[in-house]
Formats: sequence, structure tokens, C-alpha cells
Amino acid sequence: MASSWFETVAIAQRRAEKRLPKSVYAALVAGSEKGLSSSDNLASFDQLGFAPHVAGLFNERSMATTIMGQSVSMPVIISPTGVQAVHPDGEVAVAKAAASRGVAMGLSSFASRSIEDVCAVNDRVLFQMYWSGDRDTMVQRLERAKNAGAKGLILTLDWSFANGRDWGSPWIPDTIDLRAVLKLAPEVLARPRWLWSFAKTGHLPTLTTPNMAAPGEDPPTFFGAYDEWMQSTLPSWSDVAWLREQWQGPFMVKGVSRVDDAKRVVDLGASALSVSNHGGNNLDGTPAPLRALPAVVDAVGEQIEVLLDGGVRRGSDVVKALALGANAVMIGRAYLWGLAAEGQSGVENVLDVLRGGIDSALLGLGKSDVKELDRTDVVAPTDFFRKLG
Ligand SMILES: Cc1cc2nc3c(=O)[nH]c(=O)nc-3n(C[C@H](O)[C@H](O)[C@H](O)COP(=O)(O)O)c2cc1C
Repeated sequence: MASSWFETVAIAQRRAEKRLPKSVYAALVAGSEKGLSSSDNLASFDQLGFAPHVAGLFNERSMATTIMGQSVSMPVIISPTGVQAVHPDGEVAVAKAAASRGVAMGLSSFASRSIEDVCAVNDRVLFQMYWSGDRDTMVQRLERAKNAGAKGLILTLDWSFANGRDWGSPWIPDTIDLRAVLKLAPEVLARPRWLWSFAKTGHLPTLTTPNMAAPGEDPPTFFGAYDEWMQSTLPSWSDVAWLREQWQGPFMVKGVSRVDDAKRVVDLGASALSVSNHGGNNLDGTPAPLRALPAVVDAVGEQIEVLLDGGVRRGSDVVKALALGANAVMIGRAYLWGLAAEGQSGVENVLDVLRGGIDSALLGLGKSDVKELDRTDVVAPTDFFRKLG
């Protein structure tokens, strides 16, 4: 086993904290306001227990499944994140790792690498968009993604532009100019390994968003793209239905918490939804997705694929979400810690850790397949669940 191998995501996170400049690490920890939602995402998994069997267990266990029309080796998908400045290979390293482990990948429209570069190394890419720009611009972006080979579209709808954190937000420059270099120098010089990883490529992070570029133009900066998004008119449900029609393949709405919203997502003909609070980065106080999941599954689980993201750090977390009715989970910070710690092999390591944990939980629960999991496999405190809407 390589000495760089880590056995849990928590170890990868500690390694990431040591390797990343303070501001970059803080941007990944994120969370909003008081951090109620980001804490609850983790706490909810801790509060759910297992009801294991001890005999009649299965020697062979399967976790392969199909999500958004993609055959995947396990029910875990890379959730879209803007991986600015974490690693020089950024989303391309993540995409290679996901491909090598048979896992689909959501690519953020705020990513640092283009949809073309990412689709070139992974044939199960789901392109993620926010409601940003006018209709023509959105169509142009999704056509570009389709031409590049994206197999599905994720529309993320939960964002309320909260910008305060009780522990302070890191300073993120618009571009890496002389002022930024001088200001960030102390924390960057304290992380020589990170600096060297970029120095070897001959360039520093550009903090641009190539997937938000207009045809023939330079990519906007992260804040330029964010500004476009902030200025955009917020979508109605019929706007969302319009976008769904433009993308004729598999279509996911990410960020649903409420049952009434989930029903609307079904009505507009989406293929999937993700019960999610944006990793606790959005409206603080939104309960952990794990608490809201069963009510959504009960309402729409027969009509649409239901995913969950937020707080997944272990294979056993994946199994808990599946037992409560999710078809699959998406992971965010877990793979970002792996990427920061060891690049592509770190992301592969995280996926292997999750796979091992899923397998171990299936064994203990006496299941031969992830599809056999149900609510009797877990034990929850009486006040655990939340039905929203
Ligand atoms: C640093 C960071 C950047 C993110 N960027 C995006 C994004 O661009 N698009 C999106 O839909 N979600 C984004 N998310 C949310 C993730 O897709 C996902 O919902 C969340 O990370 C899940 O929670 P977890 O980190 O606990 O796994 C981001 C999350 C983090 C931590």
C-alpha cells in the first residue's frame, strides 16, 4: 500500500488542511452564517444507527446501479463544485479518478477546467448550471456541454447569496495579480508543497470559469461569473420547465428540500432530484437532507430518481441514505479533501474508502445488493425526521 494512502476521509481532510493555503482550505470548509446546516449535515448521519444481522450474511455483495441513465459501479456521484485553486489539474484530475472507479461526475459551470477537457477523460459527465444569464446564454452553454459529450444536466436551484460566516470568509482575489500575490504570500509560502504543485505547471491558479465564456471570448473570472448570476432574474417553475425542454437528456434538479417542490420537479419532467442544502452553504437553518429525504421519497420516489447530498463522509453514510430511500448520493467535500491531499490518486483513494465502507455495511446488514436496503436497516431517534412542505 502506498504510504500516501489514507484510510478515512477525516485523514484526507487533515492532510488537506496541512497542504492548502489557509484561504483555500477555508473556502472549501465554507458553510454559511452560523453553520447550523453544515453542522447538521454531519450530525444527522451520526444520529442514525444500524440494525445489523449476524448470520445468513452474503459472501458476494453488489453495489452497481444506474443513475441518470449512466451505469455506475456504486451509488456515489461526484457533486459539482468550483474547484478553483485546490490542485493544478483540478476537475480533470477528479474526472480521471471518477472514470477509473466507474463513477459519474457532476461538473460545475463555475469549474476551473472546461467541459471539453473533462469529457475527454470521463464519459459519464453531468454538466451543472445555475440560473444565470438570459435564455439564449443558457441554451448556448447547454448546447456546448452537449456537444462536448455531457450525458446529463444538473440544474442547481438552491442559492440565496448569503455571504456572511461567523468564523469569517477567506479573501479570494478576482485575479492573481501583484497585489493578490503580495497579500497571499505569507500563507502561500507556508504551504510550499501546494505552491510547488502549481509552479511545476508554470502558472498560478487563474480563477477563471471557462464554461461561462461566451463563444470566442476569454473566460470570465469567478467573480465576473458570480456577478452575472447575481444580476439574473430568478426563475419561475415554468422557466425551469422551459430549460428542461431545451435539454432532452437526463435532467436533475439539485437543492430540493420540500415535498411540494419535489412534486413540481416531477411535474416538469425531470429525471432526478437531489435532496440537498448545498452542503450547508446556502440558507442556514435548512435541515440536513438526510432528515428531509424519507418524506420526499414517500411523495415522489416512484416517479423520479431521488439522490441526496450533504454530509457524506463514509461508506456507511452512503448506506444510511440508501436505506432511507435514496437511489444514490453525491459527495462534495469528501473528494475535495482527497484532491487537495493527493490529487487524482487522493480522489481515487476517497472513492475506494467509500466503496469499502459500503461493502462492510452491506455485509453487517445482511444484504447482497444496495437495492435491498430499506428503512428497517437503520434506527433513528424519534424526532429525527423532518417533512418540509
Ligand atoms: C467548495 C464548494 C463549492 C461548491 N460549488 C458548487 C457548484 O459550483 N455547484 C453546485 O451545484 N454545488 C456546489 N457545491 C455544493 C456541492 O455540490 C454539494 O451540494 C455539497 O458539497 C454536498 O455536501 P458535502 O460537501 O458535505 O458532501 C459546492 C460545495 C463546496 C463545498
